[in-house]
Amino acid sequence: VKKIMIIGATSAIVQAVTRLFATEGHSLFLVARNKDKLQAIATDLRLRGAGYVEACVMDVLEYNRHASVIMTAEEKMGGLDLAVVAHGTLPDQQACERSFDLTRQELEINCLSTISFLTHIANFFETKKNGTIAVISSVAGERGRQSNYVYGTAKGAVSIFLQGLRNRLQKCGVKVLTIKPGLVDTPMTSAFPKGMLWATPDKVARDIHHAIQFSKDITYSPFFWRIVMLIIRLIPERLFKNLRL
Ligand SMILES: NC(=O)c1ccc[n+]([C@@H]2O[C@H](COP(=O)([O-])OP(=O)(O)OC[C@H]3O[C@@H](n4cnc5c(N)ncnc54)[C@H](OP(=O)(O)O)[C@@H]3O)[C@@H](O)[C@H]2O)c1
Repeated sequence: VKKIMIIGATSAIVQAVTRLFATEGHSLFLVARNKDKLQAIATDLRLRGAGYVEACVMDVLEYNRHASVIMTAEEKMGGLDLAVVAHGTLPDQQACERSFDLTRQELEINCLSTISFLTHIANFFETKKNGTIAVISSVAGERGRQSNYVYGTAKGAVSIFLQGLRNRLQKCGVKVLTIKPGLVDTPMTSAFPKGMLWATPDKVARDIHHAIQFSKDITYSPFFWRIVMLIIRLIPERLFKNLRL
């Protein structure tokens, strides 16, 4: 049985992951900012068979609580094996173009809060010489596009940070997993028309579960995004800048 801490536990993608964890009987320490949603999720996970479930209300922008929440999770579950970081928002790109304050706020939520938490959890697992960190980044972080480059900047920075962390922690046996979903039908993307490229949270959750089980460094979900992004990255900048993406 694993002892698992989840930041952003009310995310649709991560709810589907935690349902898989619950049926396996793992212990879960859920962190999110919406108390009512969190409690409903905790009740559901207990019914599904989770060994232990604790809910903790925290806004990820409360940086000064990041270190203590890790300690509390370890204390409550009697250990900590896996940390999943999943919170995020999809910025209004055009509003960000008009306001640096809004851009900064989006970078705080999607990048700096994650980096703060990762700094603490990396040091915690490094001391123990054990542990797995799984973070939901995005394919959006692989190339800047006019339609969402503020979000892309945040996710790109998170992906690079994770790459460095993986390289640093490799020698002490700590696993760092980067998850890069493509288009997923969740509340975050409710305003978008859906098409063939869209995946369900359950599909992405199965890929995340598999990545954790087999300690896969980088997972594209669904898998075809690896090829799509390879092509996107190969387009020369002088052509790419003319595309309306
Ligand atoms: N959906 C996609 O197409 C897609 C694609 C690639 C990557 N991703 C990434 O996947 C992750 C999960 O997103 P999702 O699609 O499952 O969307 P979601 O259901 O909207 O989940 C986003 C979660 O982030 C939480 N959150 C936002 N700001 C927060 C804050 N300041 N403090 C604490 N929690 C906060 C939200 O909490 P509340 O419920 O309290 O608002 C919500 O639980 C995100 O990192 C997202 O960037 C999504």
